[in-house]
Amino acid sequence: MTPLQELHQKISACPRCALARTRVHAVPGEGPEKPDIVFIGEAPGFNEDQQGRPFVGAAGQFLEELLSSIGLHRKDVYITNVIKCRPPENRDPLPGEIEACRSWLDKQLELLCPKLVVTLGRYSMAHFFPKENISKVHGKARKRDSIIYYAMYHPAAALHQPSLRNTIIEDMKKIPEILAQASKIQEEEKKPEQLSML
Ligand code: URA
Repeated sequence: MTPLQELHQKISACPRCALARTRVHAVPGEGPEKPDIVFIGEAPGFNEDQQGRPFVGAAGQFLEELLSSIGLHRKDVYITNVIKCRPPENRDPLPGEIEACRSWLDKQLELLCPKLVVTLGRYSMAHFFPKENISKVHGKARKRDSIIYYAMYHPAAALHQPSLRNTIIEDMKKIPEILAQASKIQEEEKKPEQLSML
């Protein structure tokens, strides 16, 4: 078993907060072991809880359309959430639930080593940039510790607020260029290490 598969198993059996008692399945995440891009949503909903897979409901369908608009399929990227278990009635995650889950997401990112992290919605953005406001930073990339972070509105926001739909579509279209830049930056950062090994 790979370290990522082991981590998924541990997440699936996680007892750290009360959501463990109401979930059907924990939803660790899915995708390649070494993805270029990781998408991070908020929390599993009804369908995700039933299936143990992220973004398989209506928001997931829109996410798949967005990915296809830039020539990607969901199997090309890693998809996960800030919290891994469904909050009852799809309520917002509580601070204690986010804290209990924090180290799972951190460990996932450590193993996945993506070039680009795309946060979907304000809870996901706040995991990395707690002081920011999504209406100001969506569609903008920033670098921290050799990972580029890019904030987008959550795809479900477009289902509730149709006026955001175009914004989300436009923000998605910028991803290929941002990924190209992220790849370049990572290559540049690797160079001194390669030289020192000669
Ligand atoms: N919304 C999320 O944030 N995550 C999912 O997995 C599904 C819907």
